[in-house]
Amino acid sequence: MRVLILAAGLGKRMKSKYPKVVHKILGKPMINWVIDLGKRFGEVGVVVGHKAEIVKGYLPMDVRTYLQEHQLGTGHAVMCAREFIDENDDVLILYGDVPLLKSETIEKLNEIHKSRNADVTVLSFIADDPTGYGRIIRQDGRIRIVEHKDASESEKEIKEVNSGIYIFKGNFLLANLDRLNNNNAQGEYYLTDLVGLAQNAEALILDDPIQVSGVNDRIQLAQLESIAKERILNQLMLSGVTIVDPQSTFISPDVVIGMDTVIHPFTIIEGKTTIGEDCEIGPYTRIIDSEIGNKVKVMRSEIEGVKIENNVSVGPFARLREGTVLRENVKIGNFVETKKSIIGKNSKAQHLTYLGDATVGEDVNVGAGTITCNYDGYKKYPTHIKDKAFIGSNSSLVAPVTIGSGAIVGAGSVITEDVPDDSLALGRARQTIKEGWAKQKREAMENADNKK
Ligand code: UD1
Ligand code: CA
Repeated sequence: MRVLILAAGLGKRMKSKYPKVVHKILGKPMINWVIDLGKRFGEVGVVVGHKAEIVKGYLPMDVRTYLQEHQLGTGHAVMCAREFIDENDDVLILYGDVPLLKSETIEKLNEIHKSRNADVTVLSFIADDPTGYGRIIRQDGRIRIVEHKDASESEKEIKEVNSGIYIFKGNFLLANLDRLNNNNAQGEYYLTDLVGLAQNAEALILDDPIQVSGVNDRIQLAQLESIAKERILNQLMLSGVTIVDPQSTFISPDVVIGMDTVIHPFTIIEGKTTIGEDCEIGPYTRIIDSEIGNKVKVMRSEIEGVKIENNVSVGPFARLREGTVLRENVKIGNFVETKKSIIGKNSKAQHLTYLGDATVGEDVNVGAGTITCNYDGYKKYPTHIKDKAFIGSNSSLVAPVTIGSGAIVGAGSVITEDVPDDSLALGRARQTIKEGWAKQKREAMENADNKK
């Protein structure tokens, strides 16, 4: 089937400069939750309108967009996407601001739609307070929908309401869209009117209305965030991941985590991140868009756009930035920052170091306080540190520069020229000793004090 997402509405109550559907739940824009759900069922189209250019910036390449310049109602929104509708295919209608719908629900809706050969199948639910929703009127074996503002007093009593999610037969839509008019209380083209026009309309009552809750303001945004969070953490726990404190843990929907990994409190994992088995992540850690192997330990650190192989340990207080690759058994310790750097197997940078644009070989020891000086104010330059090299503490490696394999850099050096393999490089002032100088100084000061 084809999936059409309505996302042209304004979302005034968000009080935002940005369109409603780009606001995020667990770090993922609402519209992308809906698109990813839709993609499981078929080709996706999105109707954009209010701040269309901003919304388009969030859409994947393979999604088609249709512009609804003026928001004249949900029926009008579908009319704007007429070319997306295929007469031989069903159309699932979703809303861009309803992010928590489950694919099982769509499957059930589709089963009914198919088995009863319906023109349209509506997803409805029973609302404690139906105010604002379209009411489902069931009469003489037929179904129609009356919008709240058009409903009579007795119709307003009805608690079965329209979620706004439907499956239509493409040919039914194409044949009937033009029959819609705006002679109603709101002067809008109602998509709901098509239900009454259908010879064969069906409705499935959803017993878990949270799935179809929309977001109208930021309070509802936070409510859905907490529901989504619980749902995702529960799935992870049921699949074998330990979450020590679900309250303080935030994991985005596209994160994959392996069995027997433990997530410690105050940890946030976002984007397209995968984490292997038997890892210890957190406490106080944020990981974004990274790929992490098995048996990796990360404590109190920030990691973004990084690849980490097995048996690595990171932190506490490390910051691994875009383009960092840590091979097996690497150890990155406290106050270490890395950017666009590859660190080879068994190598260590345990304390107070910056590695930028660096390629580090295997079995290298990077001493405390080592800095790659990769930027001269205009350009970035690479540093190469070959296998088994030893960089003494507090050294500055002024790039571009290569430290040969097995070479040693003396502590406190400023290295501006390449260091050959297996050599010692010292780039620091020679130490001088003035014997007795301190004592003389002390005595001179004391004498001066006594004369006062
Ligand atoms: C709609 C339904 C109502 C249902 C309710 C569920 C109609 C006429 N009514 O009402 O029966 O109970 O949803 O929430 O369909 N949109 C556009 N273009 C427009 C108008 C809306 O893209 O011109 C999009 C909005 O961005 C939103 C969705 O369609 O995502 C629903 O619009 P909204 O105005 O919230 O519909 P309701 O009037 O609440
Ligand atoms: Ca609404």
